[in-house]
Amino acid sequence: MSFFNAPTDDELLHYITTGDPQEMEELFAAARAVREEYYGLDVYFRGLIEFTNYCKNDCFYCGIRRSSPCAQRYRLDPRQILECCRIGDRLGFRTFVLQGGEDPWFTDDRICLILSLIRREFPRHAITLSIGERSRESYEKFFHAGANRYLLRHETADETHYSAMHPPEMKLSERKECLYTLRDIGFQTGAGFMVGTPFQSPESLLADLRFLQDLEPHMVGIGPFIPAEGTPFAGCPTGSVDLTLRMVALTRLLLPRTLLPATTALGTLSGDGREQALMAGANVVMPNLSPQNVRKLYSLYDNKICTGDEAAECVRCMSLRVRATGFVPSMSRGDSKVPVTAELLAV
Ligand code: SAM
Ligand code: FES
Repeated sequence: MSFFNAPTDDELLHYITTGDPQEMEELFAAARAVREEYYGLDVYFRGLIEFTNYCKNDCFYCGIRRSSPCAQRYRLDPRQILECCRIGDRLGFRTFVLQGGEDPWFTDDRICLILSLIRREFPRHAITLSIGERSRESYEKFFHAGANRYLLRHETADETHYSAMHPPEMKLSERKECLYTLRDIGFQTGAGFMVGTPFQSPESLLADLRFLQDLEPHMVGIGPFIPAEGTPFAGCPTGSVDLTLRMVALTRLLLPRTLLPATTALGTLSGDGREQALMAGANVVMPNLSPQNVRKLYSLYDNKICTGDEAAECVRCMSLRVRATGFVPSMSRGDSKVPVTAELLAV
């Protein structure tokens, strides 16, 4: 890594907090160079299916938390989920991401049924799950039923900060444990965090980077916090786009082989937020494949973009944006260059 090697905490804190435009541009240029070295100019497209907004958790920031008076609840049934996959496949997607709240209605058996139906029809596609914390036994069942990837943002690696954002029954140690378990089972595992959540400090963000270095995940989702109505954090300020971009760039430099999405939350805060993320080292976009009538209901935060367009329109729009930024849209599976556990054991 030419920009900095094994940076100290002070060096990282410097780049986390810098407001100097020239330093930021140097950071982004270095992140772009590293991403090009490992992944070229390709930007991988993933089809996102938001299949339930029921959730048993009560995270203080989240618009679909259990006690939100604003959330109008929905679930897609297996037939509807499969239909989203078919539409996605016709549009060229080779990765389906099934995301939802922690919804106990979707028991292990129901999730495994859905996975096996998708796997039977699409044997070579990547299937990503993002349904929160479950036991090792559940994760193993999902893996054997055909899921290859799992996204579970750790949200913050700072204990005190985690406790300030979650009710007491939620524990950072358990979330981290889930991530190590997923990685151990052989999932391509995604961690990640929000930028600008209430009570976050530069040191919390430093802890995120150090945790990521230890976990070495295959993907890292980084997006700004955006307040959501009906939550305890409803009146809090939004996260900074610039700071989010710096965190994307630092993550690219520290974990050159990881996949980094240009998140919808960035696009929500700034018209060209996703393009800026691509220019800061990101290389994944996740257009929405959820049925149009439920898009607005998966409202994690206020004013979320891409809730009205048809799937085909989302793909067209994102392809144009990616090309206009000088990158190449790729519909291939785009597996992470971080080895999975089985590959590590084979060495
Ligand atoms: N239930 C699954 C889980 O816990 O991983 C997946 C769904 S969860 C809603 C997906 C992500 O949305 C969270 O990990 C969080 O980082 C993000 N999110 C939730 N509320 C948000 C907010 N107000 N602003 C920005 N991102 C938010
Ligand atoms: Fe469960 Fe947000 S509180 S998905």
